[in-house]
Amino acid sequence: MASKIFFKVGMLALCLGLLGCERKISFADDVQPIFLANCIECHDKSAEGYATSGFSLDDYDSVMKGTNFGPVVIANSSASSALYLVVAHQTSPEIHMPPHHKAALAEGRGSALSDDQVEIIRVWIDQGALNN
Ligand code: HEC
Repeated sequence: MASKIFFKVGMLALCLGLLGCERKISFADDVQPIFLANCIECHDKSAEGYATSGFSLDDYDSVMKGTNFGPVVIANSSASSALYLVVAHQTSPEIHMPPHHKAALAEGRGSALSDDQVEIIRVWIDQGALNN
């Protein structure tokens, strides 16, 4: 009996340390640094990704505004959010972000986000894509 309780407490402690158990993600502290380090070179308002798609990652409002065709973040649904799908390898390779298909790699640009970074973006969207 006692060991069962210890097991549960142990699992909870483990859980709190892991993203998968829905640690509260902050846009400013967790998500934006990923965009600034990996995306902004092409997605600020003077760069090619913005020129082609109209998508700026300069700040929260720009992220939520999306591309010329509309929003790419659907709060509470990473599975419907183009922003998540392009970083999580769930679209056709030509639009994986940052571009890391063969031609892009050959030009010496881009590498995929780490699994942890992709997971942070997923959890942020599924927690409501808050400006927190
Ligand atoms: C090397 C430049 C470059 C980098 C770095 C880059 N992008 Fe892009 N991105 C582009 C270009 C160019 C397009 C337009 C692609 C198109 O429409 O064919 C684009 C389009 C997009 C779109 C719109 C996709 C669609 O068709 O709806 C999203 C969302 C996006 N990028 C997100 C990101 C995110 C998030 C990052 C960082 C993790 C990132 N991008 C990094 C160049 C870049």
